[in-house]
Amino acid sequence: MFNIHSSEKVFVLTGAGISAESGIRTFRDTGGLWENFRVEDVATPEGFERDPVLVWKFYNQRRSDLKKVEPNPAHYALAELQKRVLDFFLVTQNVDNLHERAGSENLLHMHGELLKVRCLECGKVCHDDRDLSQEPRCSACNGLLRPHIVWFGEVPFEMDRIMDKLSRCDWFIGIGTSGAVYPAAQFISAARHSGAKTVFINPDPGSRPRYADYFIEEKAGTAVPKILEQIIS
Ligand code: OAD
Repeated sequence: MFNIHSSEKVFVLTGAGISAESGIRTFRDTGGLWENFRVEDVATPEGFERDPVLVWKFYNQRRSDLKKVEPNPAHYALAELQKRVLDFFLVTQNVDNLHERAGSENLLHMHGELLKVRCLECGKVCHDDRDLSQEPRCSACNGLLRPHIVWFGEVPFEMDRIMDKLSRCDWFIGIGTSGAVYPAAQFISAARHSGAKTVFINPDPGSRPRYADYFIEEKAGTAVPKILEQIIS
């Protein structure tokens, strides 16, 4: 295996696989359909323009599903990892809040957050966990609210900060992500080119990226707690 020194800079990228053991389905196992909705209807700006009620119906269901799931050992282990290394940066592609609920702090949701809404008129972003089954309106300007989610064709949040961290990390750890969606899929090669060592955790051997120095072919709930044992000070 390998050892990570607590003074080294650790960059972690998580994907849908880390929440799979909590009961949230991953994307690529749904055959292009999300809970019987077409991706282009519910996850594109054009879909929202066509039918905001349908889009809110979809996200409302996912927001309410979030209340029925709990963080798993992988989320808790990452929160603990943050305490054990001095320079830790967690980026998630997930829109659920399981990292926060497990105790992770200052993480970056590059694809947005299910429990946040954004006004189409004034751009204000708010935390909102109410039932939003109709067309919700902004309390400041009465503009239409949309989910604060990065849809297909939109640019993920805070890419400059992410690329800066990638250029300076000593370790890149990718957990539960298929590498099918850019730009997150290219983070591993960016980290590698900057001299980082790379670790991937995924139970599917077919998901092993070309640039993985270490590939742990296990579920996140089993493998991430073991990473804690590799930290030395
Ligand atoms: P995917 O659904 O593409 O991939 C999930 C990965 O998790 C797969 O490689 C599985 O093998 C792996 N996996 C399944 N169970 C696991 C477990 N228990 N432990 C570890 N890994 C497991 O999800 P992402 O790579 O996150 O974007 O997808 C990236 C983006 O695609 C999403 O953020 C979303 C979607 O389009 C947006 O919504 C913008």
